[in-house]
Amino acid sequence: MGTLDGRVAIVTGGSSGIGRGIAIAFGRAGASVAVADVQEEPRRGKYHETEPRPPTADRIDGEGGTAAFVATDVSRPEQIERMVAFAADRFGGVDILVNNAGIGIVTTADRQTDEEWQRVIDINLRAPFLATRGAVPYLRASAHGRVINIASVHAFGGSSGPAYASSKAALVNMTRDAALALGRDGITVNAICPGYIETPIQDYLTPQDIDDMRDRTVLPRLGKPRDIAHAALFFASEEAEWITGAALVVDGGLIASI
Ligand SMILES: NC(=O)c1ccc[n+]([C@@H]2O[C@H](COP(=O)([O-])OP(=O)(O)OC[C@H]3O[C@@H](n4cnc5c(N)ncnc54)[C@H](O)[C@@H]3O)[C@@H](O)[C@H]2O)c1
Repeated sequence: MGTLDGRVAIVTGGSSGIGRGIAIAFGRAGASVAVADVQEEPRRGKYHETEPRPPTADRIDGEGGTAAFVATDVSRPEQIERMVAFAADRFGGVDILVNNAGIGIVTTADRQTDEEWQRVIDINLRAPFLATRGAVPYLRASAHGRVINIASVHAFGGSSGPAYASSKAALVNMTRDAALALGRDGITVNAICPGYIETPIQDYLTPQDIDDMRDRTVLPRLGKPRDIAHAALFFASEEAEWITGAALVVDGGLIASI
């Protein structure tokens, strides 16, 4: 018996990295998982996840779980609608929405273009809003409605450019706002704020940058997708039924220092 038996989960950006880790963990816990991503093949990282095979839904199926890939570009509102409808039709509802898909365009406040700004905001901030709004009718019908937003430690400080840091700070506050609106329906809305997690998103870094991050991370290793998956499993579980509007930092101590 899994802790998420009978639940239906959507995980955006579920093909690679953190989303893949969450989707696989949810599949193992018994949920039916809609893996929503622009590409079905996992991204191949330069430093991390260099041989990520097979695609997430195949991996879950191969382990005896239930999953399906749904091609989704979360920057396109109509595709978000289609994603929610797909999960509801295929699996009979939506109990858990994980807004994980995100991009970083590394730049600075004096250089970021309008187009870059808009793209980051559309994917990292507008998409979680639209997906949450679209899933609410199903989450209301569920006895265990959960929204889990993957923000970042960059919600609490700059770097990675004006759009990324702003999108993540706004996502944390949007989490609180949605928690207020949906609490009476028994739906919890929480955010996870990862530190450095070993995924293909880190390809822009140099080996020296990665060593620096390792030094700044208090615990003796960098984070792995499973570290975020464990926190997501907790928010999805019965044990977290009275937790909402929270932003849980999962960073190995990266931002513990003043
Ligand atoms: N890795 C980290 O250290 C870290 C730290 C803090 C926050 N995060 C956040 O975690 C989330 C996942 O990051 P990751 O490190 O796993 O990244 P990743 O690049 O390894 O994986 C992201 C996945 O999202 C998908 N994706 C990108 N744009 C999409 C779109 N428009 N529509 C649908 N899918 C799309 C990609 O195809 C990919 O499968 C992001 O929101 C990121 O900002 C990551």
